[in-house]
Amino acid sequence: VATLEQPQTTAIKQSEQAQAVQEITFLYGSQTGNCQHLAERFAKQLSNPNRKISLTSLSDYKNNTLKKAEYVLLIISTHGEGDPPDTAKSFYDFILSERAPKLNDLQYAILALGDSSYEFFCHTGKQLDERFAELGARRLVERIDCDLDFDVDAEQWFSSIITVLEQQSPTTTAVETEQVITSLEADAPTYSRTQPFHATVLENINLNGRGSNKETRHLELSIEDSGFTFEPGDSIGIYPHNNAALVQQLLAITGFAADEQVTLPKQNQSISLEAALTSHVEITVLTKPLLVQAAPYLNSNLSTLLQQPDQLRSYMKGRDLLDLLYDYGPFEATGQQLVELLRKLPARLYSIASSYKANPDEVHLLIGTVRYESYERAREGVCSIQCAERLQIGDTLPIYVHKNSNFRLPTDPEAPVIMVGPGTGVAPFRSFLEEREEIAATGETWLFFGDQHYVTDFYYQTEWQRWIKQGVLTKLDVAFSRDTSEKVYVQHRMLAHRTELYEWLQRGAYIYVCGDEKQMAHDVHQTLRAIVAQEGSMDEQTAEQYLTQLMQQKRYQRDVY
Ligand code: 2AM
Repeated sequence: VATLEQPQTTAIKQSEQAQAVQEITFLYGSQTGNCQHLAERFAKQLSNPNRKISLTSLSDYKNNTLKKAEYVLLIISTHGEGDPPDTAKSFYDFILSERAPKLNDLQYAILALGDSSYEFFCHTGKQLDERFAELGARRLVERIDCDLDFDVDAEQWFSSIITVLEQQSPTTTAVETEQVITSLEADAPTYSRTQPFHATVLENINLNGRGSNKETRHLELSIEDSGFTFEPGDSIGIYPHNNAALVQQLLAITGFAADEQVTLPKQNQSISLEAALTSHVEITVLTKPLLVQAAPYLNSNLSTLLQQPDQLRSYMKGRDLLDLLYDYGPFEATGQQLVELLRKLPARLYSIASSYKANPDEVHLLIGTVRYESYERAREGVCSIQCAERLQIGDTLPIYVHKNSNFRLPTDPEAPVIMVGPGTGVAPFRSFLEEREEIAATGETWLFFGDQHYVTDFYYQTEWQRWIKQGVLTKLDVAFSRDTSEKVYVQHRMLAHRTELYEWLQRGAYIYVCGDEKQMAHDVHQTLRAIVAQEGSMDEQTAEQYLTQLMQQKRYQRDVY
């Protein structure tokens, strides 16, 4: 919990104006860190002598204090099938339950983060907004639901809050707030998400052996002179380019000229339509807002589809902009209008696979190449294919460091650590072990790794073996799913070692899970619950509580996607 201290000089003023001080509880429920970063920034900007601000992660918040709160500002994201972040689970369950208190004296504002390509877009934010109102709280400003490109909407939400708070506080002046903002901008780092660093590629190799079903690239990037620092658990955001052939197909189907000048939304500069489609907008994913906005320019059958939720959902899955234009064209509008319909091309996040302490000038990434076929067309992951097919040593990539304080090694170097990371999910654990080696940590470590085949898919095999020899890695259990007639997954290896695994947890071990969310992380969670239930002689519900408590103590952390 970080409480923003007021400067000493304002203490007297504050007590004289006790009535006028606005007590603001700023809460965030963050999975990957975006909500946390926004909340931290806004809380700093809110800070002035007439406000007392406490900034808290929902995981650390004492749920019962909500009933005494005067103002609550909440930033929260939604994941998977409309789920809250792990760190917000206990707050979420509490507030939606019968135990939730009346909130008649509360004024609140919610900023919801999400991804409009998912059906349950911003679901958690919407639910909490509805529930707060139901419990009697009043909205300070309307909720805003942000898509992947959240910056501008988040700023708008925040500035309307400032306006309302100022109206409610006769002693606050606009000038004071502006001063805070200016001084904050002055110490902002040079390179960031909005101003990426161009990192040079030092190494780009395929880790899979011949005959593998996979292609997984190990990338080494130079971050010399970037000023970046990072910790194990952090990620790198990469701004990729769309495939040139796909851009040409879009130009061909619309009949627009490649050099037609367009202006990107929220920007003044004009660029060619080809450049916009290549580097600035998303063309590989369909979202409902896109279809709704495009419908007036397309065939009326699209409007009919929009009235049929089930058909709409199945249409959008596995199709892209080219399919839409092909199926519902001709597109009766301009290149400018096309660009305005599309979301900003989002950065792709990859967990860092190296330790800054061990190697401060470089960052290593493990990138699984995404190729599949859908509706008789070969499809590609935008960034992974760029890295696999069009990125040479010496090229540069625009990157930034994405901090993730929800995936951190224990501060105690002696605490035991269990790591579950099949496939590319193993990336952060290479960083964990490199770090542990570098700081000579003595705690025990246990890695569960899995992939399809031992011979072709055992990433960083020699490094794990070296760490085993050196004692940096205490135990290594592997699950190669397609080497045997029956599939073996990491959770099967966990189950086989359940007594020891539970004993580690009881001894205070931290457990980390990284990789696929929908299937793997879900199944691993069920397995953990079964292990705890069996070994701890608990029923399933108590075992689930045990895991929720581990999460709250930050001893069960997940980085899943
Ligand atoms: P599969 O491809 O043979 O199904 C990394 O991708 C590894 O995770 C692969 O061995 C893959 O197996 C496996 N995997 C697939 N689904 C999984 C699940 N639900 N739980 C754990 N591992 C899974």
